[in-house]
Amino acid sequence: MKIVVGADHGGYHLKEEIKKRLIEEGYEVVDAGVEEFRDVDYPDIAFKAAEMVGRGEVELGILMCGTGIGMCNAASKVPGVIAALCTNEYMARMSRLHNAANVLCMGGRVVGPELAWSIVKTWLENEPLYDEKRIRRRKKIEDYVPG
Ligand code: RB5
Repeated sequence: MKIVVGADHGGYHLKEEIKKRLIEEGYEVVDAGVEEFRDVDYPDIAFKAAEMVGRGEVELGILMCGTGIGMCNAASKVPGVIAALCTNEYMARMSRLHNAANVLCMGGRVVGPELAWSIVKTWLENEPLYDEKRIRRRKKIEDYVPG
Protein backbone atom coordinates (compact mmCIF):
# COMPACT_ATOMS: atom_id res chain seq x y z
CA MET A 1 0.00 0.00 0.00
CA LYS A 2 1.21 3.50 -0.90
CA ILE A 3 0.90 6.17 1.79
CA VAL A 4 1.81 9.86 1.67
CA VAL A 5 3.10 11.49 4.85
CA GLY A 6 3.48 15.20 5.44
CA ALA A 7 4.18 17.63 8.24
CA ASP A 8 5.08 21.20 9.09
CA HIS A 9 7.69 22.05 11.73
CA GLY A 10 5.19 21.19 14.50
CA GLY A 11 4.88 17.63 13.21
CA TYR A 12 8.26 17.13 11.56
CA HIS A 13 9.84 14.88 14.20
CA LEU A 14 6.72 12.74 14.47
CA LYS A 15 6.56 12.42 10.68
CA GLU A 16 10.13 11.15 10.56
CA GLU A 17 9.32 8.55 13.21
CA ILE A 18 6.08 7.41 11.58
CA LYS A 19 7.69 7.30 8.14
CA LYS A 20 10.54 5.11 9.45
CA ARG A 21 8.13 2.68 11.08
CA LEU A 22 5.85 2.51 8.03
CA ILE A 23 8.82 1.66 5.81
CA GLU A 24 9.94 -1.00 8.31
CA GLU A 25 6.44 -2.49 8.08
CA GLY A 26 6.72 -2.69 4.30
CA TYR A 27 4.55 0.25 3.26
CA GLU A 28 5.55 2.34 0.28
CA VAL A 29 5.89 5.87 1.63
CA VAL A 30 5.85 9.15 -0.28
CA ASP A 31 7.13 12.12 1.72
CA ALA A 32 5.38 15.40 0.87
CA GLY A 33 7.70 17.35 3.19
CA VAL A 34 8.76 19.27 5.06
CA GLU A 35 12.12 17.65 4.27
CA GLU A 36 14.02 19.16 7.22
CA PHE A 37 13.12 20.88 10.48
CA ARG A 38 12.20 24.42 9.44
CA ASP A 39 9.25 26.76 9.69
CA VAL A 40 6.71 26.13 6.91
CA ASP A 41 3.03 26.90 6.36
CA TYR A 42 1.01 23.77 7.09
CA PRO A 43 -1.56 24.38 4.30
CA ASP A 44 1.19 24.08 1.65
CA ILE A 45 2.12 20.59 2.85
CA ALA A 46 -1.49 19.59 3.51
CA PHE A 47 -2.62 20.48 -0.02
CA LYS A 48 0.37 18.78 -1.66
CA ALA A 49 -0.24 15.53 0.23
CA ALA A 50 -4.05 15.60 0.18
CA GLU A 51 -4.14 16.24 -3.56
CA MET A 52 -2.16 13.04 -4.06
CA VAL A 53 -4.86 11.19 -2.13
CA GLY A 54 -7.66 13.01 -3.97
CA ARG A 55 -6.14 12.13 -7.35
CA GLY A 56 -5.72 8.50 -6.31
CA GLU A 57 -1.92 8.51 -6.66
CA VAL A 58 -1.68 7.11 -3.15
CA GLU A 59 -4.28 5.22 -1.16
CA LEU A 60 -4.01 7.03 2.17
CA GLY A 61 -2.36 10.05 3.78
CA ILE A 62 -0.99 10.83 7.23
CA LEU A 63 -0.50 14.50 8.11
CA MET A 64 1.03 16.03 11.21
CA CYS A 65 1.35 19.57 12.52
CA GLY A 66 1.51 20.93 16.06
CA THR A 67 -2.07 20.04 16.95
CA GLY A 68 -3.20 18.24 13.79
CA ILE A 69 -6.01 20.77 13.48
CA GLY A 70 -4.53 22.94 10.75
CA MET A 71 -3.62 19.92 8.62
CA CYS A 72 -7.13 18.54 9.06
CA ASN A 73 -8.78 21.84 8.15
CA ALA A 74 -6.68 22.24 5.01
CA ALA A 75 -6.86 18.62 3.84
CA SER A 76 -10.65 18.60 4.26
CA LYS A 77 -10.97 21.21 1.51
CA VAL A 78 -9.43 18.91 -1.09
CA PRO A 79 -12.00 17.05 -3.24
CA GLY A 80 -12.10 13.33 -2.54
CA VAL A 81 -10.42 13.72 0.84
CA ILE A 82 -11.97 12.85 4.18
CA ALA A 83 -9.55 13.98 6.88
CA ALA A 84 -9.83 12.98 10.51
CA LEU A 85 -7.97 14.34 13.51
CA CYS A 86 -7.31 11.48 15.91
CA THR A 87 -5.83 11.57 19.39
CA ASN A 88 -6.49 7.95 20.36
CA GLU A 89 -7.08 4.50 18.87
CA TYR A 90 -10.87 4.65 19.26
CA MET A 91 -11.07 7.79 17.12
CA ALA A 92 -8.72 6.16 14.61
CA ARG A 93 -10.89 3.05 14.34
CA MET A 94 -14.16 4.98 14.07
CA SER A 95 -12.74 7.45 11.56
CA ARG A 96 -12.19 4.51 9.22
CA LEU A 97 -15.37 2.53 9.97
CA HIS A 98 -17.92 5.35 10.07
CA ASN A 99 -16.25 8.29 8.33
CA ALA A 100 -14.20 6.42 5.72
CA ALA A 101 -11.33 8.80 6.42
CA ASN A 102 -8.53 8.58 3.89
CA VAL A 103 -6.29 11.13 5.61
CA LEU A 104 -5.25 10.76 9.24
CA CYS A 105 -4.17 13.90 11.09
CA MET A 106 -2.23 13.99 14.34
CA GLY A 107 -0.56 16.60 16.50
CA GLY A 108 3.17 16.29 17.09
CA ARG A 109 2.74 18.43 20.21
CA VAL A 110 -0.25 16.39 21.37
CA VAL A 111 0.65 12.72 21.01
CA GLY A 112 3.98 11.04 21.69
CA PRO A 113 5.58 8.68 19.15
CA GLU A 114 4.33 5.45 20.77
CA LEU A 115 0.70 6.58 20.99
CA ALA A 116 0.93 8.03 17.48
CA TRP A 117 2.22 4.73 16.09
CA SER A 118 -0.55 2.85 17.86
CA ILE A 119 -3.08 5.26 16.33
CA VAL A 120 -1.57 4.75 12.87
CA LYS A 121 -1.61 0.95 13.18
CA THR A 122 -5.24 0.96 14.35
CA TRP A 123 -6.20 3.31 11.52
CA LEU A 124 -4.53 1.12 8.89
CA GLU A 125 -6.05 -2.09 10.28
CA ASN A 126 -9.63 -0.85 9.83
CA GLU A 127 -11.69 -0.50 6.66
CA PRO A 128 -14.70 1.76 5.96
CA LEU A 129 -18.17 0.27 6.44
CA TYR A 130 -20.23 0.32 3.27
CA ASP A 131 -23.69 -0.31 4.72
CA GLU A 132 -26.62 1.84 3.56
CA LYS A 133 -26.65 4.04 6.67
CA ARG A 134 -22.96 4.97 6.56
CA ILE A 135 -23.05 5.57 2.80
CA ARG A 136 -26.12 7.84 3.18
CA ARG A 137 -24.49 9.92 5.91
CA ARG A 138 -21.19 10.30 4.10
CA LYS A 139 -23.04 11.23 0.89
CA LYS A 140 -24.86 14.05 2.70
CA ILE A 141 -21.50 15.67 3.41
CA GLU A 142 -20.26 15.00 -0.12
CA ASP A 143 -23.40 16.52 -1.65
CA TYR A 144 -23.48 19.60 0.58
CA VAL A 145 -24.03 22.81 -1.35
CA PRO A 146 -23.84 26.14 0.53
CA GLY A 147 -27.35 27.57 0.89
C1 RB5 B 1 2.59 25.98 13.92
O1 RB5 B 1 3.18 26.62 14.99
C2 RB5 B 1 1.22 25.42 14.33
O2 RB5 B 1 0.30 26.45 14.31
C3 RB5 B 1 0.84 24.30 13.42
O3 RB5 B 1 1.77 23.29 13.51
C4 RB5 B 1 -0.51 23.63 13.68
O4 RB5 B 1 -0.63 23.24 15.00
C5 RB5 B 1 -1.68 24.33 13.19
O5 RB5 B 1 -2.82 23.85 13.31
